[in-house]
Amino acid sequence: MASNNENGEIPAKIKRLEVKRPVTVVLGTQWGDEGKGKIVDMLAVDADLCCRCQGGNNAGHSVHVQDKHYAFHLLPSGVIYPSCKGVIGNGVVIHLPGLFKEIEDNKIGNLEERLVISDRAHLVFDLHQKVDGMLESGRGQKSIGTTKKGIGPTYSSKATRNGLRISDLVGDFTKFSEKFTHLVEHFKCMFPDVEVDVEEELEIYKEFAERVRPMVKETVCYLHNAIKENKRILVECAQSTILDIDFGLYPYVTSSNCSIGGVLTGLGIPPHVIGDVYGVIKAYLTRVGSGGFPTELTDEYGELLQKRGAEFGVTTGRPRRCGWLDLAMLKYSNMINGFTGLAVTKLDILDVFEEIKVGVAYKLKGQRIETFPASDDDLQQVEVEYITLPGWKESTESVRKFSELPANAKKYISTIEQHLGVQVKWVGVGKDRDSIISIP
Ligand code: GTP
Repeated sequence: MASNNENGEIPAKIKRLEVKRPVTVVLGTQWGDEGKGKIVDMLAVDADLCCRCQGGNNAGHSVHVQDKHYAFHLLPSGVIYPSCKGVIGNGVVIHLPGLFKEIEDNKIGNLEERLVISDRAHLVFDLHQKVDGMLESGRGQKSIGTTKKGIGPTYSSKATRNGLRISDLVGDFTKFSEKFTHLVEHFKCMFPDVEVDVEEELEIYKEFAERVRPMVKETVCYLHNAIKENKRILVECAQSTILDIDFGLYPYVTSSNCSIGGVLTGLGIPPHVIGDVYGVIKAYLTRVGSGGFPTELTDEYGELLQKRGAEFGVTTGRPRRCGWLDLAMLKYSNMINGFTGLAVTKLDILDVFEEIKVGVAYKLKGQRIETFPASDDDLQQVEVEYITLPGWKESTESVRKFSELPANAKKYISTIEQHLGVQVKWVGVGKDRDSIISIP
């Protein structure tokens, strides 16, 4: 608390605390795969730093620039721009072999010099990936649909306090070796069949330590200074709100907070520096893996969405389940994240539909509910109230101005705005970088 001076006044320096909000957040509103990559790519033009705050290489963002296709899993998408630095925050879990492969595959100039990695980020080992695979196969029919990239087991090592961090790797290697051996023993007690060649792994990590060392920083201070220097910071959340470990449909969730809270804990920045929070909505809904899906279409319309939208995972190639847009889910997502603007992607995929349904509310046991159920059992039982909107039956792919969209497409967008009370600022009408309509 500010102490008063002898005249009873609060010192001017403390009174005039200047609030800067240089941080813009982009996050998913549904079950992921909304096309966040393209929105981040668009906003990153003006960013000095682009940050990842949670998850690992279980994410998959695609960015198409003319003939070039970038597939990002751990790298912040903004690094495509030579002036933008990439920050991998403390909340991210890093599989170094995967990160280095991604750097090599994407062939982006002087990337390693522009990449900053938090010393507090945890390491994902091949061991975590093997255990992830074993756990997922053991679930049989009840599979959660993890990508088997070791992300869940790494966050569980973090929670049981025997995980290894980047700071361990670039510190004393003898201590790192001891901790790694201990981690292997810990997992071997639970999974006796898991095979790890400790010596070989340590040899590999000794080399990784040297390669990663120049990129490692204490990122709390690094970001604090960037904020003081008025740098523009873009944060890209992976996965999505309904996959959030706290607010998603547990247990069909990812192992991190991929809603707004994860930005604070995964980067170590204070809430008042966050300005805009943009929610990315796919114009319809998709879901990977099992669990409830109230607006799912298991008929030819679902197949049409899957085919037109190329709904197959970037990381796994798995087909995605498809259904109508669910505004009941989106209202819940907005309650958590407090969106200041929205981007609706893949409107073009709906171009061929005669009529388009939109879920607007849920009823559970005959009663309208205001929120999104906590349990999958309840979600499976909800009845959806729909509204039916007329389709536009013409291509929107070459449209670049909102005023030039077909009237029924505009109506579709304004329905979303009215139900959520948030402005739609962008509409995606194709996968290329310039296939986007900005709404002033
Ligand atoms: P996660 O982080 O895994 O949830 O993925 P994401 O939200 O980043 O999705 P991604 O960037 O992988 O986008 C999904 C696909 O949609 C990509 O192939 C994009 O090129 C494509 N896409 C994005 N916007 C549009 C759009 O407006 N229209 C069409 N047709 N495709 C789009």
